[in-house]
Amino acid sequence: MERYVIKGGNPLAGEVEIAGAKNAALAILAAAIMTDETVVIENMPDVRDTNVLLEAIQEIGAVVERLDRSTVRVNGSTITDVSVDYEFIKKIRASYYLLGALLGKYKHAEVPLPGGCNIGSRPIDQHLKGFRALGASVEIRHGAIVTKAERLKGSHIFLDMVSVGATINIMMAASLASGRTIIENAAREPHVVDVANFLNSMGANIKGAGTDVIRIRGVEKLHKAEYSIIPDQIEAGTFMFAAAATRGDVLVKNVIPKHLEATTAKLEEIGCEVMEFDDSVRVIASGDLRRTHVKTLPYPGYPTDMQPQIAATLATAKGTSIVTESIFENRFKYVDELSRMGANIKVQGNTAIIDGVEKLTGARVSASDLRAGAALVIAGLSAEGITIVDDIVYIQRGYEEFEVKLRSLGAEIEKVSNEKEIQKFRLRVG
Ligand code: UD1
Repeated sequence: MERYVIKGGNPLAGEVEIAGAKNAALAILAAAIMTDETVVIENMPDVRDTNVLLEAIQEIGAVVERLDRSTVRVNGSTITDVSVDYEFIKKIRASYYLLGALLGKYKHAEVPLPGGCNIGSRPIDQHLKGFRALGASVEIRHGAIVTKAERLKGSHIFLDMVSVGATINIMMAASLASGRTIIENAAREPHVVDVANFLNSMGANIKGAGTDVIRIRGVEKLHKAEYSIIPDQIEAGTFMFAAAATRGDVLVKNVIPKHLEATTAKLEEIGCEVMEFDDSVRVIASGDLRRTHVKTLPYPGYPTDMQPQIAATLATAKGTSIVTESIFENRFKYVDELSRMGANIKVQGNTAIIDGVEKLTGARVSASDLRAGAALVIAGLSAEGITIVDDIVYIQRGYEEFEVKLRSLGAEIEKVSNEKEIQKFRLRVG
């Protein structure tokens, strides 16, 4: 089993290049099979989640070619099966996007109920409500969602809560429905906009993505496209907090600064200097960090996927900070691990109260999910001594070459697969 071993204490410095957005890529890959023509997708992050989804679409018959590390060519004309194997779904929740994509194209999809990151109960009732509103039947059979329609018909759908997944899934199916669909209370995340732009580049007619009302006029079919995925705002934000937590100075390149505004605002509040350029941001943390309060919200609010990273940073900020999680229950599982590193954090319901300490100390900790894992790495980079992060398979779901990028910023971090390698690392770093 692979682990990270980290010797903390080096302020991160230098430049880092951000990959394409994992969450946009997952939906775009699913949408790519909605045409029988060839689609080329650039800026595809080479991470476990996207690679598993590529396997899943190959498994149902699509042709996938990797032109280079970040470019894939997909052709969905050879799809023979609308039933996705549980093996893929249990690895990535987002394979539920194949429901909307296959339902739109073939008016029939069978996808097992998703598992995925263990961050609380994650129902998909809103996705299913949307499919039903478009005229599809939806039943659960042998652990799979089976959805079918003679034809899909546009509809007016009001989401009960802001859901990224439901907005995208409904948008995909409605693109190939007859007539007009309106999604109200739609999610406004940058990757919702990116998926809409991608579908439009294939001939869909979607307006309003990025606002809370999305209007879709169904089209007969979609056509070939070449598309480049937006940069990953969560990967970018993770490096920004890593810079802050280590009191470093990092230029984060290939980003859309607008997408990072909530993160930037918090970094400034806690005492960092953040400089914005056209497609990069520089974070400079020279002195002590200050406390803050933060609550996760749908975009443009502070993202839940950046909650563990800010908490790991606030663990060594002066004063008492309060972090409130309002999107997912059970997203504080990393807190016990941070406590083992000397953090002073109490969790009450959906709130973490963090009393900043002078310093964290290295310990052996375990990642419970993707962003929790990233937070433990941030903590390890800022801690005194050696930290070992187990279960990095979660981190590899969403970060491309995380340790390589961190090393290029001066971090002492290595991916190891046995105790002997850990010993070697200890000897090397002294
Ligand atoms: C996506 C992201 C995830 C991010 C989350 C919130 C992907 C692949 N994943 O997840 O990284 O943390 O957005 O920004 O893009 N809900 C329901 N019923 C539904 C759908 C959602 O009750 O049918 C609830 C969820 O339990 C949660 C909230 O709505 O409390 C938001 O979930 P949603 O936006 O759907 O998250 P995901 O799309 O699963």
